[in-house]
Amino acid sequence: MSLPKACIFDLDGVIVDTVPAHYVAWKAMADELNIPFSEEDNEHLKGLSRTESMLKILELGNVTKSENEIADYTTRKNNIYVEIISKMTPQDILPGVLDFIQQLKDNGIATAIGSSSKNTPTILKAVGLDTTFDAIVDGNQVTHSKPDPEVFLKGAAKLGIKPEECVVLEDAISGVEAAKRGGMKCVGVGDPSVLGAADVIVPDLTKMNLGILRNL
Ligand code: BG6
Ligand code: MG
Repeated sequence: MSLPKACIFDLDGVIVDTVPAHYVAWKAMADELNIPFSEEDNEHLKGLSRTESMLKILELGNVTKSENEIADYTTRKNNIYVEIISKMTPQDILPGVLDFIQQLKDNGIATAIGSSSKNTPTILKAVGLDTTFDAIVDGNQVTHSKPDPEVFLKGAAKLGIKPEECVVLEDAISGVEAAKRGGMKCVGVGDPSVLGAADVIVPDLTKMNLGILRNL
């Protein structure tokens, strides 16, 4: 078995732990709307775009809002979120990330980011990873968010590598589905009870290595 030619990383929850910040910010909006919103509900928003996440929250509460109101909620949610992430530093890179990226680089494996987040450039700059990856595709560059495979297919195209030669690393149910629909192998990062559709699951990137990539 051979190594893949590229690894495409999801950002939120794989490279940096922004999941709690997204939760806090969405929870503030849900509370205003009197919609019960748990961390488990938040699990299902991972990977979805900002607007799609807002629509899901409204759906949870069976609440209807106009397009303008939805835009207002998503803007205010993002203001809360950006306030939190603007304080991020390189210390906020998740354990194992830098070591694993170095192993990939040492072995000539290309690296990319494939994220639904429009805040990707801000986050990468804040944690000092803005020049680390060979390609970056984020929420500003796609029309369809995960589980659509667009973000990963664009990443592969930017790298000039076929989808089947790329491996995706994902913490979201929607992201695992996007990778599979794009014809890529997927490493789930997190909880096996949530990420069962991935080809292999690791709890975090400290447990990731080239042997796992080779066996996919
Ligand atoms: C994804 C997150 O990476 O980006 C989602 O998992 C988030 O929770 C989405 O909604 C969009 O992020 P942003 O930063 O553009 O609001
Ligand atoms: Mg994620």
